[in-house]
Amino acid sequence: MHPLGRAYASTVGKKYAMAVSGVILFLFVVLHMLGNLQIFLGRDALNGYARLLRVEPALLWAARLVLLAAVTVHVVAAVQLTLRNWAARPVGYERQRYLATGYAARTMVWSGPIIAAFVVYHLLHLSIGTMHPDFVHGDVYRNVVVGFSVPYVAAFYMLAQVLLGLHLYHGLFSLFQSLGASHPSYDRWRQPFALAAAVVIVLGSCSVPAAVLAGTVR
Ligand code: HEM
Repeated sequence: MHPLGRAYASTVGKKYAMAVSGVILFLFVVLHMLGNLQIFLGRDALNGYARLLRVEPALLWAARLVLLAAVTVHVVAAVQLTLRNWAARPVGYERQRYLATGYAARTMVWSGPIIAAFVVYHLLHLSIGTMHPDFVHGDVYRNVVVGFSVPYVAAFYMLAQVLLGLHLYHGLFSLFQSLGASHPSYDRWRQPFALAAAVVIVLGSCSVPAAVLAGTVR
């Protein structure tokens, strides 16, 4: 077997793959949020940014392929690790006691699939437009405003961002462990760093549907 395949076959290897693909996805989420926040600079700023992304189609598709590869690795490794976990403990404990694990860690198994379902809906809603009430190609600003004017859609987006925040909190916290980079001198920064990053992303992303609902962006 190829050394890379052998490394991946181990639990540690899968966790490593999850960490590396997770970092790529995290960077995308940060950049995507910064892009979306341009809605507060007005219609021309957001639409101009969306046009800029399309100036070099080859570059856009290269970025999409990297993203797709990262999602695939992240999901496949997550499913394999979960199945391995379950197989190691076929009969549930009579009474579950969670020691070195918190609320966010326990939610990973179901927050992951819900976030995946959100992304599929989100692409059909704001990227492809088939699940949008009145999609206009090239007018991202309008698509966002019209899309979030439906209160339950805006609410669902905000709920998904909170779940994503919980997921990121645990993911970022575990990251250093999975990469084997845990060290006492900076271990105490792991939790505040993960918490701060998750809070900034939840607030930044929720601000867009919230501003449309409040009528600040229209
Ligand atoms: C409230 C939060 C969000 C808003 C307002 C938002 C907005 C948008 C908009 C307007 C587009 C279309 C952009 C364009 O056509 O140029 C888009 C595309 C996309 N969004 Fe989001 N998004 C949000 C959250 C997310 C999250 C949490 C993820 C992933 C975890 C995500 C993943 C994507 C992807 C993969 C695309 C397609 C990019 C492409 O063209 O290849 N979005 N988003």
